[in-house]
Amino acid sequence: MPGQSMDNSKEMYSEYPFGNFEYGRFRYYKFIVDALRDASDKENKTIYDIGCGNSYFFSLYKELGFRESNISGLDQSTSAVSYTKDKWPDAHILQGDALSLPYDEEVADIAVSMGVIHHTSNPSKAFGELARITKQNGLIVLNVYNTWHPYFLFMHKLTFPIRYLYWNFSRAVFWPVFVLAYPAIQILSGILFFRLLSVTTIKTLLMDQMFTPFAKTFTLCEIQKLAGSNRLTLLQRGVNMYGMMRWAIFKKEGGGSR
Ligand SMILES: C[S@@+](CC[C@H](N)C(=O)[O-])C[C@H]1O[C@@H](n2cnc3c(N)ncnc32)[C@H](O)[C@@H]1O
Repeated sequence: MPGQSMDNSKEMYSEYPFGNFEYGRFRYYKFIVDALRDASDKENKTIYDIGCGNSYFFSLYKELGFRESNISGLDQSTSAVSYTKDKWPDAHILQGDALSLPYDEEVADIAVSMGVIHHTSNPSKAFGELARITKQNGLIVLNVYNTWHPYFLFMHKLTFPIRYLYWNFSRAVFWPVFVLAYPAIQILSGILFFRLLSVTTIKTLLMDQMFTPFAKTFTLCEIQKLAGSNRLTLLQRGVNMYGMMRWAIFKKEGGGSR
């Protein structure tokens, strides 16, 4: 569909970087806390956060014992990269494309990609890149949209005419949508998170989930295929955020210990 370009995606995430929302996301992302907490020798492990946005998960990495100097982050968004560089001066932050990572093979003990590959033009290729940079015996922590939850059907699939107008005719299309969606999102947030969201968060969520040029959803079968086609073991998987998202932990089998 016209409008589906990586340039549009870059423009959007640079104008609306994915920030640190006020609803306390860790509660809904317990799987990553568990996966990282269980890793041994965290002091010396390298962690690569691909599509790191505004570095939401970096504080978790540090809290769990990873060294800031062993954290690498990459994002296409100019504003997210500059924010993250300022906030984490000892981490290695690059602007780049998840489809062609500027890293050597097998550099990451743990590769994390939270809510990213479904926003690329080629999610299987993006996942292949995660597998490529992961060391033997390393882990990949993935979070993607779930096909079988109605949220993305309403929020993304059925809203394609709005997206078409936005990318091909006028960015002003955003404003009437924002005014109409604002009360609905606040009601949903009140029910799910027991709190109201800021205007910035609502704008970011609308961009990330409705106006984004790419938002592929995944079935369990597709997650299993990602493991199979990259010769990885699917260690654990599940759903989070009330079933809206799917998470999975993959292992790249090889010698040594985790
Ligand atoms: C939903 S946000 C998630 C950010 C962060 N992982 C988090 O959970 O807070 C998606 C992020 O993926 C980035 N992204 C999307 N496509 C990308 C690509 N091809 N290369 C690099 N980053 C990309 C966006 O710029 C955005 O920051």
